[in-house]
Amino acid sequence: MKNVYFYLTILFYLTIFISCGKKLPPVNIYQSDEYKNLTKKELITGESIWATACFRCHRYGTNGAVILEEKEYWDANASKGLDELFKSVWEGKKGEEGVMPPKGFCNLCSEDEIRYSVLYLFHLAKKAQEAAEIQVKEKQS
Ligand code: HEC
Repeated sequence: MKNVYFYLTILFYLTIFISCGKKLPPVNIYQSDEYKNLTKKELITGESIWATACFRCHRYGTNGAVILEEKEYWDANASKGLDELFKSVWEGKKGEEGVMPPKGFCNLCSEDEIRYSVLYLFHLAKKAQEAAEIQVKEKQS
């Protein structure tokens, strides 16, 4: 009897897998396993790319880039999922006020390095947004 339940469960998951597996909606970056399971080493890799490439535009909003404190922009972007965001950076993207060059100027970067830099950007964005929120609260009190 136990076996029947076992196979029924497998059949159940298989059906779900086959019906949903065709086109899964993107997972929000903040909810993705890649983001949640970032190791220290991966963060350091991401940080080094950020500091040598992404930083120059995204820290101060240079060249029409959006700074990390813009919570609404990054929250909306997070829902596009890692694959699409990686693609934007890898291939470059024309924004409303400026252009991001392919690989965000890190021409020697590998795909993994760019992926980690995107994940690091969201990791840092959360910190920058929290810090900005505290500042606003301090000013109010
Ligand atoms: C020369 C300036 C510049 C550099 C360097 C740069 N970016 Fe950008 N980035 C932009 C601009 C401009 C946009 C588009 C803004 C908009 O949506 O209007 C953008 C958008 C993005 C987006 C959102 C993409 C989307 O699909 O909406 C991500 C993620 C991103 N950048 C990550 C990075 C990362 C990671 C790096 C470093 C590897 C980097 N950027 C380097 C200028 C830059």
